[in-house]
Amino acid sequence: AKLRAVDGSGIGADYDDVRLIQEICKSLLVSDEKLRELMDLMLLSMEEGLAKETASTAAVKMLPSYVRSVPNGTESGHFLALDLGGTNFRVLLITLEGKKADMVSKIYRIPDSLMKGTGQVLFDHIADCLAKFMVEHDLSGKPKLPLGFTFSFPCRQEGLTCARLINWTKGFSAAGVEGKDVVTLLREACQRRKDVDIDVVAVLNDTTGTLMACAHKENTCQVGVIVGTGTNACYVEKISRCGKLDGEMDPNDGPDEVIINTEWGAFGDDGRMDSVRTEFDRNVDANSINPGKQIFEKMISGMYMGELVRVVLEHLTKEGLLFEGSTSTALFRRGAFPTKYVSEIESDLHEEDRTFQNTFNILEDLGLERITPTDCANVAYVCSLVSARAAHLCAAGIAVLLNRMQKPMVTVGVDGSVYRFHPTFKQLLDQKIDQLVDRGLEFQLMLSEDGSGKGAALVAAVACRVEQERVQ
Ligand code: GLC
Repeated sequence: AKLRAVDGSGIGADYDDVRLIQEICKSLLVSDEKLRELMDLMLLSMEEGLAKETASTAAVKMLPSYVRSVPNGTESGHFLALDLGGTNFRVLLITLEGKKADMVSKIYRIPDSLMKGTGQVLFDHIADCLAKFMVEHDLSGKPKLPLGFTFSFPCRQEGLTCARLINWTKGFSAAGVEGKDVVTLLREACQRRKDVDIDVVAVLNDTTGTLMACAHKENTCQVGVIVGTGTNACYVEKISRCGKLDGEMDPNDGPDEVIINTEWGAFGDDGRMDSVRTEFDRNVDANSINPGKQIFEKMISGMYMGELVRVVLEHLTKEGLLFEGSTSTALFRRGAFPTKYVSEIESDLHEEDRTFQNTFNILEDLGLERITPTDCANVAYVCSLVSARAAHLCAAGIAVLLNRMQKPMVTVGVDGSVYRFHPTFKQLLDQKIDQLVDRGLEFQLMLSEDGSGKGAALVAAVACRVEQERVQ
């Protein structure tokens, strides 16, 4: 290996580059002992989120979903679903028939300017997409279909059809929505244009959708996790263990359990992650649209993983440890390294020939010049550290939930682009949960097939069934 000084001058070096890179990246390693410490803190944060006295100030919000029954396989009918919260907005038409679910859907882009504009323009756009979809599928003018709205942001719910946005997360910041009920905003947008008439019967988080979609197939599913643009989890909790629901939700009126949307992405917003955060994490956070917020999410999810890698690579390049010290403006630009690069680069590590073809192409596209095979290996190493840390932190979160629930066998429904497309995330997640979960508890991870669509229809269907049972 080449020898080079830490300041990148190339003179008077006594370290080996690879060793120096490892030294700098050491802060990205989180030991099992540290993970267990974090688990204790996360459990504490969750308990604070559930208790009456501390709920309003807790970093982890533990939001009741008002979904108290998982599907029983008798759900049927036609439903509309809206899905807002990831990179795309989708409208779906779903037909449920027992265990079967047929879907047609269309993806609509939400331009960045709409995510960051005003709430009115954003909801007008959503209503516009819905109206177009209904015309295309010959639904306008027909009897209204029940609609499930997957809105994947932290909301305080007052029932199944009322969800007040607490604060935006991920890339959204549309003005005038925080504190408002998003179902009302959607209805108002539809009323403004007069050609769409909707019947919203449920609003839910994507984690709840994921849990419901998996529970439809596998009745041991009691946890739903997303590792996509953002990260979050929900689980089935006993109403009697949610102090803040005392007098709000009657455990005797229906099932004594409710799905809790943890909003674990905000774990650490009160400083409880500080001992594992690195200078790279602080850099990514400081330059995000919500500094100081969603600290756990920023160490895990797809919106930030690529950027974290980029910040590490920028640092190593400036230290003269990569690309023979030559730089590229692209590599130093925020957002220039999407998370899909991390997946593509790491898949090179599993090629037998180890030619690092993907890595080389990506680095070349970023305008880097003197790229050596060692550079490629080092870049892949950085990617693997960042993604393994993400998987391990996420595993710690899931283990906290499993250990709290103490059910002998739990299926964990998981969805999201990082979980789906990263070459090793699934395995790393599974292995680490296995190490962290209490002895005697069994679990399995299950990919949720289209939770935010099917799950929305299922919540809508269960809501309709419960309503019918009530009026009968
Ligand atoms: C963010 C949102 C949360 C959502 C998650 C995954 O963390 O706050 O509600 O579930 O992203 O989409």
